[in-house]
Amino acid sequence: MPKPYQLGFTSQYAEIEAELPVRGALPSWLRGTLIRNGPGQFEVGRTPIPHWFDGLAQLHRFSLSEGRVRYSNRFIRSQSYERDNAAGKIHFRGFAVDPCRSLFQKAMALFSNEQGNNAVVNVTRLGEHYLAMTEFPLPMAFNPETLETLGVYGYDDQVKAQIATAHPHYDAQRGFGINMMTYIGLSSAYQLYAVTDKARRLIANLPVQQPAYVHSFAVTARTIVLAEFSLRLTSPLALAFGDQPFIRNFRYDAQRDSRFLVVDKDSGALLADIPTDPFFAFHHINAYEGDDEIILDISAYDDARLIDSLYVRELLEGNEYPPVGQFRRYSLPLSGGRAEYEVIGSETIELPRIHYGYNGLPYRYAYGASTQAGSGDFINQLVKVDVQARTAQVWREDGCYPGEAVFVPDPHGQAEDEGVLLAVVLDSRVGRSFLLVLNARDLSEMARAEVPQHIPFGFHGQFWSKPN
Ligand code: CO
Repeated sequence: MPKPYQLGFTSQYAEIEAELPVRGALPSWLRGTLIRNGPGQFEVGRTPIPHWFDGLAQLHRFSLSEGRVRYSNRFIRSQSYERDNAAGKIHFRGFAVDPCRSLFQKAMALFSNEQGNNAVVNVTRLGEHYLAMTEFPLPMAFNPETLETLGVYGYDDQVKAQIATAHPHYDAQRGFGINMMTYIGLSSAYQLYAVTDKARRLIANLPVQQPAYVHSFAVTARTIVLAEFSLRLTSPLALAFGDQPFIRNFRYDAQRDSRFLVVDKDSGALLADIPTDPFFAFHHINAYEGDDEIILDISAYDDARLIDSLYVRELLEGNEYPPVGQFRRYSLPLSGGRAEYEVIGSETIELPRIHYGYNGLPYRYAYGASTQAGSGDFINQLVKVDVQARTAQVWREDGCYPGEAVFVPDPHGQAEDEGVLLAVVLDSRVGRSFLLVLNARDLSEMARAEVPQHIPFGFHGQFWSKPN
C-alpha cells in the first residue's frame, strides 16, 4: 500500500510562477516574503537519492501583500544539481550518500571544500545577501525575488572548519550572527563564530577528541550553549578517507554521557561543562538564564535511531513511522551537578519555532510540527505549546501533512503570540500543497493559498518583511 503522503517524497520538476487562489483572508499587516528550502528531486537518473536530507535543493517563495499570494519555486543550481543531472549519476558526498571516489577526491573533498553545495536545509540573510545553507560551510547565494542561484558565497576569512550548522542565531544587541562549526583533524574542535557578511570571528575554540554530530545550538542573553549529543565521530581519518557516507561515521554511544558546554558570548570563556544522560536532538527550541542555572528547551530523542528512519525507502515502505521529539526542558546547573529534564505537555514537537524576539529570553510559546499520538502516521499536525501552563493546542485536518510553521509577529501586537503561523501543508486528498495561515493565538485558520502542484516535504524557511 502506498503511503498517503508519498507525494511529499516525490520529485517536483516543474518550476512555476503563479498567483495563488486564496481562501479566507490574510491579515492586512502581513506583507513580506516567506522563502522555504527543502529537497525537490529524489533521484538522479535512475539512481534514487537514499536519504530525505540529500534530495536536491529547491527554494519556494511565497510573496504576501494586500491579501494576495504569489508563489514561485526553483532548484538551486549547485554543482550537485548541474553535474549530477548532466551525467545522470551522483558525484558528491552528502549527508547519507557517498559516491565511489578516488582517495585523492576524498582528500580534496574534506580538506579543500570541493563540495556539491547542495544547500538543502535552511535559508538566511547576511547583510544584503540571501543564502541557502547545508551543513558544509559553503552557502549558496540566491536572488530573493527571482530565486536565481548566484553562486557559492565566499567569506573573506581563513576559517578551516569543515562542518557548520544550518541554524545560525542572530544577536540583535551585538549586531552579529553566531554559528557553531566543527573542525575535524588531528586536533578536532568545536568552534563558535561571530558572523557578519564579511567574515567570521572566532569566539571560542573547544578542543574535542570525538566531535558529536550537532545540528543546532542555543543562545541566552549572555551565553552560547552547545549540546554535545552522544552521536560521536569515531575516527576523523575514516571520515576523510573511508567509504562510509558522512553520517555513518558517527556512532551513538548509549554508555557515554551527553553534555552541555556553556560559553560566554563576549569573552569566549567556557563557563560550565555539564553532563547529562545520553540523548540526541536535531533542534533546540529556546534557552534562557535563570538563577544560577540555564533553562534549555529542546526536541529530544532517547537515541539517534531517528536518522535511520528518515531514509526515503523507510519512509515510504517501512512499517514504522519516524518518532517525533519529546518537548524536554533541561535545567543546567552552573555551579556543579548534572543536567536533568522534565517533559513539557503531552504533544511531541519537531521543527520548532518561537517568536524570535524572545530568543535567548524567558518566553511562553513554542510552535512545531508533530504527530497525533496513536495515529500511526507521518507528521500530521501543528502544535502550539504554552510552556508556562504546560498545555498544547493543535491544528489538524484529515489527509493533511504540514511542515515547519514559521511565526510572523504582528508589528502592532503586544502579546508574544500576536501574529500568524505560516506552514506549507501537503493535502494528500487532492495531491497538491497549500500555504496555511493560522492565527497564532488559537491556531484557527485565517486563510489558505492553494499551490497548483505538490511541494515535497522540506525543512526550514524564513520570513522577511522585505523584499516584497
Ligand atoms: Co534543522
